[in-house]
Amino acid sequence: MAGYDALAEVYEWLISDAKLTPAEFAASFDDVLSLLPSNAHVLDCSCGTGQLAVGLAGLGIRVVATDASEAMVRRTAELSDELGTSVRTVRADWEELPDHFDDDTFDMVFCVGNSLHHAVGARGRVAALESMSRLLRRGGRLVLTSRTWELVRARGSRLDISDRLVRRNGRDAVVVYRWDIAPNWEDEHHIEIAVAQVDAAGSVLARSELLSSWPYRYEELEAELRRVGLRTEMSTFNPEAENYMVVAAKV
Ligand SMILES: C[S@@+](CC[C@H](N)C(=O)[O-])C[C@H]1O[C@@H](n2cnc3c(N)ncnc32)[C@H](O)[C@@H]1O
Repeated sequence: MAGYDALAEVYEWLISDAKLTPAEFAASFDDVLSLLPSNAHVLDCSCGTGQLAVGLAGLGIRVVATDASEAMVRRTAELSDELGTSVRTVRADWEELPDHFDDDTFDMVFCVGNSLHHAVGARGRVAALESMSRLLRRGGRLVLTSRTWELVRARGSRLDISDRLVRRNGRDAVVVYRWDIAPNWEDEHHIEIAVAQVDAAGSVLARSELLSSWPYRYEELEAELRRVGLRTEMSTFNPEAENYMVVAAKV
């Protein structure tokens, strides 16, 4: 699994300004939330620090939040307690989800914020999508957001350094992404992410993590969704845009 335990501590420096609060994060999915039945049961299966899960719970939705990283799950539980919501949290890799939940349990499963590329290759991705599909009720929906990996690969290996300090909790940090693009799509790629906090006295405290990544083309994702019994209902894919969202319903 991708290691996110060190980044969990500094993850807010990686979340965009517009999605920092749980309410803002959930509001960014207003359109798909309007498709939910009343008394819906929702899973966020790569919950990170919990902004989406806690935001959804704040709207009165029954939410379970899971993640492969123990530290991420802990942060989600803390955020839920802090805001007085009752999100159930479970540490689980995507492939382990069927060990924790019955088939046909959820009305909606979220896998957002560029998470799926951490599944190990096409086999791992299909296994992850298969788990998510099993847990959905018939007619339930998977909501997936992704980077446009075609663009990321076309830019090649590089270093991206934030052009401004990012301020969170009164502390400034420089955020650095090092993209290590492998020769072939199916190879393991690497992304190193560093958050270097600078205090008023000039001291620097850095946290970083080297993550493994297996990018995919949009058409591969579409075919894989079909293979696990999910039919794409809506897609914002545009080869020139940085990110896209796919909503796929369980057939
Ligand atoms: C880029 S973060 C996105 C977090 C959150 N969804 C957001 O939008 O802020 C990717 C998340 O996927 C989780 N993850 C990576 N591999 C996973 C796996 N195999 N099973 C479940 N979660 C995984 C990581 O621990 C991390 O929290």
